[in-house]
Amino acid sequence: MLLKDKISIVTGGGSGIGAASAKRFADEGAAVVVADIRKRKAEEVAASINDNGGHAIAIEVDVSDSDSVSSLIRVCVEEYGGLDVMYNNAGTLLPGNVVDLEVADWDLVMAVNVRSVFLGGKFAVPEMLKRGGGSVINTASISGMHGDGSSVSYAASKAAVINLTRAMSTDHASQGIRVNAICPGTIETPPVSRMMENPGVLEVQLNAHAIGRLGQPEEIANTAVWLASDESSFVTGESIVVDGGLRARSPLGHLSDPRPVHKR
Ligand SMILES: NC(=O)c1ccc[n+]([C@@H]2O[C@H](COP(=O)([O-])OP(=O)(O)OC[C@H]3O[C@@H](n4cnc5c(N)ncnc54)[C@H](O)[C@@H]3O)[C@@H](O)[C@H]2O)c1
Repeated sequence: MLLKDKISIVTGGGSGIGAASAKRFADEGAAVVVADIRKRKAEEVAASINDNGGHAIAIEVDVSDSDSVSSLIRVCVEEYGGLDVMYNNAGTLLPGNVVDLEVADWDLVMAVNVRSVFLGGKFAVPEMLKRGGGSVINTASISGMHGDGSSVSYAASKAAVINLTRAMSTDHASQGIRVNAICPGTIETPPVSRMMENPGVLEVQLNAHAIGRLGQPEEIANTAVWLASDESSFVTGESIVVDGGLRARSPLGHLSDPRPVHKR
């Protein structure tokens, strides 16, 4: 039980990576607040955790709204007595290049992906300090490390999360609070599955990942559990890439024939 007696919040916990992480946190002994803007989704995940003998509650939250995040943390503390792990995972993507993206859409992506991490830290860290420390985990993306086309706001927001993670970790390391991010490759969650319905997209994606398949939400949850737990006690300020070899692979693929001819 890697998270025995720990109290955690997972935002975006109603679906995909957040749902898998909430369930895994509970399996490892944590009490989990499943937080999502879609309350029904959060309730379904919390119910499945409780049905399996875990401890979870569902809370509706808009991670881009200060009052909403502040109230999320307050309810968690009232219900479970504190907070040890804050997983700022909720995020969104609205496509567009710098010319055609609407200003309102830029603002929305930055608010849901970046302001959320600021607010999650702002209200979670003081509660963690009361318990002598804690772990903040942020979901960034490999899109924050290179220039994906047609998603300028998403790329900028995830790059911001990576450096916000470093800055937050620096401020609070000496107080026992670790702050790390996870940068997933393409993970088979509902929005990604919808994207894969477009002809040709799946083939490009499979080729891009050296491992030859998309990632599963549980494979990100495995990393989140490790970052939440004391097993990663000397890790802070890092952005851990979990991408099936996507970044490692050159777009050229194999430079030579895959069956090299050895001449004597
Ligand atoms: N799936 C991937 O390939 C992939 C890759 C890299 C990064 N990510 C990141 O992983 C995170 C989770 O994405 P996912 O793929 O599991 O998607 P998902 O749609 O399955 O889950 C995201 C959840 O966030 C919730 N959410 C959206 N806006 C919110 C808000 N304002 N307040 C509270 N909750 C809100 C949604 O309701 C949803 O349940 C996101 O930050 C995403 O950018 C995903």
